[in-house]
Amino acid sequence: MPMDLEKPTCDDSLIRQLSMSIYQLPIISVADELGVFSLLEREPTSIAALAGQLSLSFRATEALLAALAGMGLLARFQGKFHLTETSRNFLIPDRPFYWGHMLRLASQVPVTHGALLETLRRDGAVAWNGGKVITEEWEKVDLSEERAFVFTRAMHSHSFATAVGLAQRASLKGVRRLLDVAGGSGCFSIALARQNPDVRFTVAELPPVCKTTRQYVAEHGLEGRIDVMELDMFRDAWPSGHDAIFFANILHDWDSARRQHLIQRSFEALPPGGRLLIYELLLSDGQDGPLTAALCSMNMVYMTPGKQFTAGELDELVRGCGFTGVSVMPAYAGYSLISATKPLDR
Ligand SMILES: C[S@@+](CC[C@H](N)C(=O)[O-])C[C@H]1O[C@@H](n2cnc3c(N)ncnc32)[C@H](O)[C@@H]1O
Repeated sequence: MPMDLEKPTCDDSLIRQLSMSIYQLPIISVADELGVFSLLEREPTSIAALAGQLSLSFRATEALLAALAGMGLLARFQGKFHLTETSRNFLIPDRPFYWGHMLRLASQVPVTHGALLETLRRDGAVAWNGGKVITEEWEKVDLSEERAFVFTRAMHSHSFATAVGLAQRASLKGVRRLLDVAGGSGCFSIALARQNPDVRFTVAELPPVCKTTRQYVAEHGLEGRIDVMELDMFRDAWPSGHDAIFFANILHDWDSARRQHLIQRSFEALPPGGRLLIYELLLSDGQDGPLTAALCSMNMVYMTPGKQFTAGELDELVRGCGFTGVSVMPAYAGYSLISATKPLDR
């Protein structure tokens, strides 16, 4: 008996595209390693000419360029491939907003069906790049300067455009000295310092990271306004004298007890009237997207004990630790700034 065959109620293009999505990140990181974007920046080029420059076959180059164009990173015009605004801004090495270091690191993380299934079943993160789970390395401060450099450089490439976007929107009115807790390369303090010439900054980081942080601060000529301080934020006493405390991409690394501990320590370190600032890629209130924040949350589940949050979850966390006057300001590319105040009578 032939089976009744009802047509699907929509076509399968979304599923087909998703079935190929595993190629997307490696295609970009391989193009970056081959120098495709730098070559096309110098001169828009045909497939055949680029194949010659890269010592690749015509077939391989054709597939690579078509995929990059399909992803919006190249555009074809009169037979030659050109950069787009995105690749010109973010994929040229030695440019300030180059993302390549993070793309290369991310493409080394083995996200496989089996590893993801195991992570979800045991709700525990995986090791990265042949080492331990990253938050365990941080907790034991079991991190060579070289490993700290590779991760911090990757985070800088991930965060610097976001930091500049924040600096353009956020007001630091009334702030004299800001503590950037676990500030990585110092990218947020660097961007905020350039925009707010009267504010001083302290970037607090684990000792193996601080050498790299000092290099970034010096590159921007801001050694006179940004101090770099060795601090284990969970174990050491926090410095006094800061009227604002800032966390970017930090709460999402940790479980709820650690998150609460960090906000409680911020409350204790701030003077009455002091400001708490949290910068994160937010999930929508209904926790049904946006996709980038949802995938970032999965990345946190895969690699850390943390997750991404809704604005409401962060509001509850900071109010629970005594802060008031909570506001949420969408700032840049899905990132929002959550601000709160330590009451004057505390
Ligand atoms: C996801 S990165 C965020 C860096 C930076 N805020 C940014 O957004 O680019 C997390 C940072 O937390 C730092 N970190 C982890 N544990 C720490 C600790 N106990 N004390 C201070 N910093 C810590 C790491 O060294 C790393 O730079």
